[in-house]
Amino acid sequence: MAQLIRGEVLHFLGDPGDVRDARPAATVHFDDGGLLIEAGRIVCCGAWREVQAMAAPGTPVDDHSGKLVLPGFVDTHTHYPQTDVIASPGHGLMDWLDRYTFPAERQFADPAWSTEVAEFFCDELLRNGTTTALVFGTVHPQSVDAFFAVAQRRGLRMVAGKVMMDRNCPEYLRDTAQSSYDDSKRLIERWHGVGRLRYAITPRFAITSSEAQMEAAAALAAAWPGMVIHSHMAENEAEVATVRALFPWSRSYLDVYDHYGLLRPHAVYAHCLHINDEDRQRMAQTGAVAAFSPTSNLFLGSGLFDLGRALDLNVPVSVGTDVGGGTSFSMLRTLAAAYQVAHLKGYVLPAQRAVWLATLAGAAALGLDGEIGNFAPGKEADFIVLDPAATPLIARRMKGAATIEEKLFVWLTLGDDRAISATYVMGEAKWRRSDQRMEPGKDPDMKSGMEPDIEPDIEPDIEPDIEPGRSS
Ligand code: GUN
Ligand code: ZN
Repeated sequence: MAQLIRGEVLHFLGDPGDVRDARPAATVHFDDGGLLIEAGRIVCCGAWREVQAMAAPGTPVDDHSGKLVLPGFVDTHTHYPQTDVIASPGHGLMDWLDRYTFPAERQFADPAWSTEVAEFFCDELLRNGTTTALVFGTVHPQSVDAFFAVAQRRGLRMVAGKVMMDRNCPEYLRDTAQSSYDDSKRLIERWHGVGRLRYAITPRFAITSSEAQMEAAAALAAAWPGMVIHSHMAENEAEVATVRALFPWSRSYLDVYDHYGLLRPHAVYAHCLHINDEDRQRMAQTGAVAAFSPTSNLFLGSGLFDLGRALDLNVPVSVGTDVGGGTSFSMLRTLAAAYQVAHLKGYVLPAQRAVWLATLAGAAALGLDGEIGNFAPGKEADFIVLDPAATPLIARRMKGAATIEEKLFVWLTLGDDRAISATYVMGEAKWRRSDQRMEPGKDPDMKSGMEPDIEPDIEPDIEPDIEPGRSS
């Protein structure tokens, strides 16, 4: 069935660049825009009058005038089993893993627990506007069965995998090189390419895999050449030193993965903080992706990702929340931290480039840019609606924002889940903030008495900002 969406619309055809290298043709923006959707896919995106003219008379319209319609966020590094670990303070990565993370992951031997957490995690993704994520399970294959089953029931486009780890972790979380190969292979055969789901080969990091297990990961990667690979790299200085001791023949941490054939397009490495230009050049050559996870890097005291240098050297970059080392499910909060971290390293990240990183670049990192990431015809209609009156402060600050770049910057700096007015999956609204307000007791905001005042006050003020030709 066809449907129309109306609102201010923004999406990207490529990297919009920055002040030194602006690529305006990459940005598509309509003050009064629309999407025509048929059977969950984009038919066309354009100015409202043109899109409306293409639809049959009587096509239903979901009118989000005054709000911004964007492609859904793509979170390219997160751990669903760490949902309950978020906000656990530690003394750096290794202490945090030992103290909180490994014990929490033990519980995922239980399929019922895995399912309960996966349901909550997917709810939280949707309320934050994330429609696709690259997700770590635990070492237990049943944790991945549970996650994929939940994602499949909801029709979500998700990429996930079973952690491979056979050393330097508690006994109760260890697999073996052989069992990790066999379990991963079974999961691939069961889930990869089923509906909207894809598998990711997931060695945790070089420290927790023996050389035999790295070879098992390499064998899986060779058997499935286009498959996503998902791991961590060079997050913490102590970790880097341990990798040097464990793999004394290696030139660098990255070189360990390179040695096993694990650098290639859609091989996504979280963090990549303590690397040099030789490593960056190697990532650019091979197409391996750095998943910038700034809230995690700040929370765990890991370091500052050099975004400007990575982009200058053509390293494919995407963005991840890294829940539960990361402190938020919100890609808006994550982009706010990305801006700040990049700034500390001397690079000023434009808001449009930030949103490109969190949408189309994320999709490309996962090899899904033919399916999602923007509003090109034929793509799956996963999109979100951002509310310029999400909070009193955002509403007030928006009045002074004239251009789309300025408005985006307000959302990125001040926004969180409250800014996500709706999240659509294959054209279907799976989350509406207004529905939540209608269910008393579900959300503390309901009881504050604040929200009902916002809409009547704000809508008339916002209207003038969205007139065609006003911004961009
Ligand atoms: N390195 C290896 N495992 C992990 C993990 O679970 N979280 C983070 N942030 N880094 C890791
Ligand atoms: Zn992680």
